[in-house]
Amino acid sequence: MPSPTEEVQRGLQDVVALESHLCFIDGKEGRLIYEGYDIRDLAAHSSFEETAYLLWYGRLPTSDQLAALRHRLTELRTLPDAMVARLDAMPSTAAPIDVLRTAVSELSLFEPDESRPGASSIGGAQRLTAALPSILGQFHRRRAGLPPLESRPALSHAAYLLYALLNREPTELESRAMDVALILHADHELNASTFAARVTASTLSDLYSAVTSAVGTLKGPLHGGANERVMELLDEIGAPDRAEEVVKAKLARHERIMGFGHRVYKVEDPRATILREWSRRIGEAKGDLHYYELLRVVERVVHQEKGLYPNVDLYSGSVYSLMGIPHDLFTPVFAASRVAGWTAHVLEEYQDLRLIRPTAKYIGPVDLPYVPIASRV
Ligand code: CMC
Repeated sequence: MPSPTEEVQRGLQDVVALESHLCFIDGKEGRLIYEGYDIRDLAAHSSFEETAYLLWYGRLPTSDQLAALRHRLTELRTLPDAMVARLDAMPSTAAPIDVLRTAVSELSLFEPDESRPGASSIGGAQRLTAALPSILGQFHRRRAGLPPLESRPALSHAAYLLYALLNREPTELESRAMDVALILHADHELNASTFAARVTASTLSDLYSAVTSAVGTLKGPLHGGANERVMELLDEIGAPDRAEEVVKAKLARHERIMGFGHRVYKVEDPRATILREWSRRIGEAKGDLHYYELLRVVERVVHQEKGLYPNVDLYSGSVYSLMGIPHDLFTPVFAASRVAGWTAHVLEEYQDLRLIRPTAKYIGPVDLPYVPIASRV
């Protein structure tokens, strides 16, 4: 038995579980690095496709390599007919994140070779990344009574995701805003869903099973589900002059304000800094700064009362909402980006595999006498 003096790291806080070359978070300086590149440079100059290439192959692509990846992702947008039929059979009242989790698992049934662990998993990574917008579009269009999805090969990954969900081709500004959001969400070191993916992969299970674990983990409101809850808060507040009162009342009741705080960042999450600016830009373009102005007040009050800084989930919802994306699709959009990171981590896990299996400190009794059922009270 473990000694009772062994220290338990609740929530595995500060435990270094593995080595990775994918992503570095400097929580004190508020920096985020993918494969050596600062997220601010990637958000300013890169695209989601280029960022996904960087995560999967460990280097930035040449223009030919990027063109080939774009072409491949476009080809893979089309779902197998049987998968479309499965999506059409799902209840239209289901939460899109649940549909996504189920669909990722089901997609593996139609991709038996790609779903095996090993070298072919890069193909599965691309397949899944290309398929997620189509899965979401197929489900959302049917429930909303919109026309069927087309593959629109001329559209970038970000523009296609918007087209799939909105049934219109986005403006250049909207496409760029989505591209930046996808870049910013693509990876984040050993966050809960990535860890879940790596735990699954570490048993030598397949990529699709790992991503299914990850989607189920992302769903929780303490992780990717926070962006939807932020919008619920804004709707509850209504007008900026009510923000202070509503937020203070919640804090007095010890409620968490979604979109604030982080396990690693002790300063502002650099993704929040970039998305704040995009919230303002999209708000100005739409002539609607309501959410932006509300969020600024909420930010001020939460910092003043609790000393907490915004995280990536604070401003993303306002950007998506202004483009017309329904709130229950925000976490699935997060997944449509993070799938690049999840799959990159699974590939890395396969390269340096070690079963992830920590230990629990037992705090229950031992040596209890077994009581036959007839004698129990
Ligand atoms: N609102 C109010 N109080 C908070 C918040 C918050 N958002 N975040 C932390 N605190 C308080 C918490 O109540 C605790 O106070 P006390 O010591 O008085 O009990 C203290 O700060 C430390 O909290 P913790 O839960 O021990 O810290 P953690 O490192 O486990 O929490 C977190 C990280 C993200 C779970 C937490 O900050 C949180 O619940 N935030 C809201 C949910 C959210 O926005 N999640 C998105 C995270 S970023 C994107 C992602 O990874 O998906």
